[in-house]
Order: sequence, then structure tokens, then C-alpha cells
Amino acid sequence: MPPGSFAPTKAVAVAVGPAIALLALLAGAGLISGAAACTVVAVLIGCALVARQGLDRRNKPLTTPAPVPPETAPQPLLDHLPDPVILVNRGREITAVNRMARETVGVGEVGRDLALTMRHPRVLAAVEAVLTGASTVSEEISLAVPTPRTFTLHAARLEGAGTHGQTAAAAVLVLRDETRAKRAEQTRADFVANASHELRSPLSALIGFIETLLGPASDDAHARERFLGLMRAEAMRMARLVDDLMSLSRVEINEHVPPKDAVAVGAILQSVADTLSVRAEDKGMTIALDIEANLPFVLGDGDQLTQVFHNLVDNAVKYARSGTVVRLAATRSERATGSGQAVSVAVIDSGEGIAAIHLPRLTERFYRADAGRSRRLGGTGLGLAIVKHIVNRHRGTLSIESKRGVGSTFTVVLPAAPSVSSTSQ
Ligand SMILES: Nc1ncnc2c1ncn2[C@@H]1O[C@H](COP(=O)(O)OP(=O)(O)O)[C@@H](O)[C@H]1O
Ligand SMILES: [Mg+2]
Repeated sequence: MPPGSFAPTKAVAVAVGPAIALLALLAGAGLISGAAACTVVAVLIGCALVARQGLDRRNKPLTTPAPVPPETAPQPLLDHLPDPVILVNRGREITAVNRMARETVGVGEVGRDLALTMRHPRVLAAVEAVLTGASTVSEEISLAVPTPRTFTLHAARLEGAGTHGQTAAAAVLVLRDETRAKRAEQTRADFVANASHELRSPLSALIGFIETLLGPASDDAHARERFLGLMRAEAMRMARLVDDLMSLSRVEINEHVPPKDAVAVGAILQSVADTLSVRAEDKGMTIALDIEANLPFVLGDGDQLTQVFHNLVDNAVKYARSGTVVRLAATRSERATGSGQAVSVAVIDSGEGIAAIHLPRLTERFYRADAGRSRRLGGTGLGLAIVKHIVNRHRGTLSIESKRGVGSTFTVVLPAAPSVSSTSQ
């Protein structure tokens, strides 16, 4: 073995050593997870070994590289970390930033006072605290630019820093992006508040009727009959709400598991039309089916697809004008994303239409364009949210077009099952 062959290994140790030391410090302070630390160490050692092999192959005379100053050595390590990381010296000047810090919080210029790029008072207070004695500080901060985000800031003093003078990194700041978690938390809180509110109103009405029946109307047979009818309607409203909430949670649980059965959409549309025809007739309406011959099967869950078209046709019957026709048109089409066949089903009504401002939010839970009308007609505000989740599970798309005074078209496109042609439709 030539005498110089250990030199690259030594160089690797010199270059990677400070990086690993900082990594151990970050992991020890709880600023990054052990798994992340191991990944970065593996990446660094891997890169270093590849470099060593390259040098071995060329068999060039090797010289020992100059030692790498600790404040520049961690850069490859920092750039592999998934969170924004900023290092500052005792004078609060930035000594290093990683790629995530540049991309997400826009902190980039090494050598500048941190306060010139991050003016957030909590960030500056945390830095001040660790530079003047505190070992770690954690704070929740919200940044408005470049996009509104919520972070948990972890600031830690780098023990033993300062051996390289004023320029050495004296504190490390790690920002963990909590925006998504915060949003999910808010959505959950809003959902519980909305569901409770929706259940509370029929419940209050029921309690009111019961008290009236027990008190002033106890001997009034006519009032009793009327109140019992109203109580039944309120109880049924609660039952519908609970059914829809349970459907929604069932759909959400298996949304990531794509369905595997080959399903004939035509047969489903026929059964939905049969089920809802009585209600349509009550409004002097008809449901017309227009199903293209030899449609391909779709990959689907029959019960869930029945629920999708039941909810859409139910809305069309509920919100369209009396005496009009609800049209169900099923045609062969192309997949909206990627290549391949699909089946497109349009539910077309001649109703009042929906103002454009409501369209983007229509599939949100409990969102209604006209809340009073929806409640009067027995709506829960969950029908389209259920439709959206089922269509997502089927890797399909839902699009809504509506024109005030003309009507609405809800179109569902579902990917076809591979190479099986439906003959029964
Ligand atoms: N075909 C339609 N025509 C007009 N408005 C509709 C139609 N479908 C849905 N909407 C509007 O979208 C809202 C949400 O629909 P959905 O989630 O099914 O809840 P709901 O229980 O109120 O029917 C409805 O309250 C209604 O305002
Ligand atoms: Mg509905």
C-alpha cells in the first residue's frame, strides 16, 4: 500500500469531523431527530468515501488538505437538513445558513446582522437570550412573508464556541415548520364546533317541544299530534347528520386505499334514478338517463359510487325548479390526468344556479350557498364533502359549473378498469 493512501481518509475525517460534531450537538439539544442525524452522517460519509475512491483510482500523489474552519465545514450537512437552520456569531452576524433557510425564510447573506433579514422580535429576543447565557430557548413564531407560516423556533448556544474569535458560530437557530399541523388543528377544531352547532339546534328544538308537551300542552291532543310530527322531523334531521358524519369518517379512513372492483356505472345511475324518482315526481320533476352504449367498467366501490350519484341527484332534485328535468349523462372520456380511458358522468339540472363566489368552497364540510334553504330542505351540508372524498379515493375528478338562473352541472370523471368492457350497461 503506498504511503499516501491513508491521506484521503484523514482528509475525510478532518472535513466531516466538525460537521458530525455539530450534528451531535444538534441531536443532543433535541433540535434534530436521531434518525435525521444518522441520515446526514451517512450521506456525508458516503460522499467522502466516493471522493476517496476517486482519488485512489487516479493514484495521484496526495497531500494533506488544510484543516477546514468549523464555521464553514457544516455547510453540506446544513444543506441536507430538512428544516431552516441559521448560525450566528456573538455579534449576531450570520455565519452560515442552509438551503431551507434561504428558500423558506429568505435569510441568505452571511456576514450581515440577523436583525437586518429577520426582524421578528421573538427571534431576536431568543437569540439575545442564548447569546447572553440561556442554553436553549423555544418559541412559536409566525412569519408573514414570503408566505404566512407558523414555525417553532429552537435557539441554542453552541458550547465551547469562541475559540476561533468573534467570527465563530455562537448560536444555532432551527425553525420547524408547523404550518400544516396548525392548519389541520384549526380544521379539526372548526369541524367539531360546526358539528356540535348543527346537532345543537335540532336538540334544542326537541327539548323545547318535550317541555311544552309536559307543561302547557299536556292535555291538548291536537297540539300533541302537531308537536310529535315536528319532533320526528327534528329527530330525523339529527339522524341524517349522524349518518353523514359517519359516512364521512368511513370514507376518510380508507381514502388512501384505491378500490379494486370493476363496477358498471350505468347500473348504478339507473338504481339512483329509481330511488329518487318518487321525490322528483313530488316536485313535478323527471330524472332522464342518457347512458352511452358499451361504457367501460370503472375501478370502484359500488356502494360508495351509489352514494356519490345519490348525493348529486338528491341536490339536483332539491335545488332545481319544480317541473324541470334532471339529466344524468354518462359518456366514455379520457382521464383528466395521465393517459387511459375514463367514464364521465354529468348531473345536469335547471335550477337557480350557484353564484361563482361559492363554487370553490362548495365541497367543504358544512359549507352551503344558502344555509336557510338547505336546512329547510333537510340538508346537512355534508353531501358534497362526502362526494369529494369518495371521488378522491377513486382517483377521479369532480368539476362544478353553474350559471345563475340557468342551472348547474356536476361532472364526475372516473378512471376505467383496465381492458374489461362492460356489456351489461
Ligand atoms: N344542484 C345544485 N343547485 C344549487 N345549489 C346546489 C346544488 N348542489 C349543491 N348546492 C349548494 O351546495 C351546498 C352544499 O351541498 P351539500 O354538501 O350537498 O349540502 P346540503 O346538505 O345542503 O345539500 C348546498 O347547501 C347548496 O347551497
Ligand atoms: Mg346535499
